[in-house]
Amino acid sequence: MSTGTREFKTIGVIGLGTMGAGIAEVFARHGYDVVGVEVDEDGITKGRQHLEGSTARAVKRGKLTEEEQTELLGRVSFATSLSGLADADLVVEAVVESLAVKKQIFADLEAVVKPTAVLATNTSSLSVTEISTANASPGRVVGVHFFNPAPVQGFVEVVRTVVTEPSVVEDVSALVRTLGKNPVVCGDKAGFIANTLLFGYLNHAVSMYENRYASREDIDAAMRFGCGYPMGPLALLDLIGLDTAYEILETMYRQGRDRLHAPAPILKQMVTAGLLGRKSGRGFYSYEAADSPVVV
Ligand code: NAI
Repeated sequence: MSTGTREFKTIGVIGLGTMGAGIAEVFARHGYDVVGVEVDEDGITKGRQHLEGSTARAVKRGKLTEEEQTELLGRVSFATSLSGLADADLVVEAVVESLAVKKQIFADLEAVVKPTAVLATNTSSLSVTEISTANASPGRVVGVHFFNPAPVQGFVEVVRTVVTEPSVVEDVSALVRTLGKNPVVCGDKAGFIANTLLFGYLNHAVSMYENRYASREDIDAAMRFGCGYPMGPLALLDLIGLDTAYEILETMYRQGRDRLHAPAPILKQMVTAGLLGRKSGRGFYSYEAADSPVVV
């Protein structure tokens, strides 16, 4: 498909976990050929199951016909080696959030992809600039931060480094629009736009709670009913996972030194105590039978 100056037809997706499988689905749904790369056959099986499950749910909800689902799945092929990406016009890396792993992949990609291929990382908090320098052509490296779940969320942050070629940013933004999503462009700073603003707010809510300024219910009610947010900040933190939220805040604070992002002390205490939110059954709220607030 022609978007800007570049023609994007085949998209490589490295890592078919939560995000990668969703990203592969989005591209295949919009007519692109997709090559999904995983570490081994087991990873491919899980990625394929994720894709099949997600598209089957879309069929059930009437968002996709069975015929469209078959066509979509037929556009996705799989590989256990980066050499499967030789024809890719764009590669989206969505492996674990580890700088070392991502840098190795961007270094290895140089030998296998076309010189014209654009290389993108879906990192949430690592430096796109640092990842890009592992590749011999950092000018073709850009961040594409899809939101979770990728097939549903209509928004992608396109992250430019100081050396990303402007045409790469333009073409990737145009490509994002062909997926029916809104691209926004920003510089390379941990958290990008949405998480920088969101996590400062969430952290402030934790401090209010920690300082016994208001109850968890009243803090959440103020933002839901007063500001029209779909969830209150403490309930949202329980959904994100307090360990994940803590790590994101720590990274943003280390990079930006903005006090807004210095994690509220109680967050660390709750993580240490195993209160991780919904996934562990208890965070600010309890998701087991008996609910009791955290004692502060
Ligand atoms: P995940 O842990 O669900 O999936 C990662 C996948 O990468 C696994 O299936 C793993 O087998 C595979 N993998 C690891 N090393 C690999 C390699 N060398 N080659 C090929 N595959 C490899 O992780 P998740 O949540 O999908 O996150 C992926 C990236 O997306 C991270 O950078 C994360 O920060 C970012 N992200 C995550 C969001 C979320 O809500 N989970 C939201 C937006 C971005």
